[in-house]
Amino acid sequence: MLLLEQEIIKKLGKFTGRRFSAMKTRIHGDYHLGQVLYTGQDFIIIDFEGEPARSMRERRIKDSPLRDVAGMINSFQYAAYAVLVQHAHIRTEDIPFLEPWAEAWYRYVAGTFLHAYLQNVKGAQFIPTLEADVQTILDIYILDKAIHDLGYEINNRPDWLLIPLRAILRLMKNAEPAEETVK
Ligand SMILES: Nc1ncnc2c1ncn2[C@@H]1O[C@H](COP(=O)(O)OP(=O)(O)O)[C@@H](O)[C@H]1O
Ligand SMILES: [Mg+2]
Repeated sequence: MLLLEQEIIKKLGKFTGRRFSAMKTRIHGDYHLGQVLYTGQDFIIIDFEGEPARSMRERRIKDSPLRDVAGMINSFQYAAYAVLVQHAHIRTEDIPFLEPWAEAWYRYVAGTFLHAYLQNVKGAQFIPTLEADVQTILDIYILDKAIHDLGYEINNRPDWLLIPLRAILRLMKNAEPAEETVK
């Protein structure tokens, strides 16, 4: 992981070193599955207070709405892997068999969500016109979130470290860490 530090800095540098042309908006700021209520007919989004760890000034800063899209994508990964991490109803010896299914579920759901989102916002001023730019911004936001989560899990829930680690490794194109399976 530490060996990736320079590569991660390089990847982040590619993002900070250039300009993207898309409108910034006010964003939710802490968008994840726990902020969405299903009424049976529709989804209601709640809790617009932003990221609680940030100051009010920071929370008001406009950003790309892709920040929230990245938040939800991260949440899908947590939903899938939380089952393995907590493994209350799973035998430890079954985890290696189940992990690829968690990964497949995550990829399928995140892909479906992203595809539907991009279909709905097609042509909007807040989405970069270049598809490659959308991917770059999303990757960086997901990476940023994973690095933030890494700090949180180290301090609070070391058993959950696998989740942000997996996200970082996936983004750094090194998705199959042989030794990093859930215990
Ligand atoms: N109107 C509601 N109906 C049902 N559940 C709710 C409602 N409002 C909040 N909740 C539940 O409470 C949780 C926390 O509420 P939220 O407003 O997001 O507070 P917090 O700032 O603590 O995240 C939500 O994730 C949801 O599960
Ligand atoms: Mg909430």
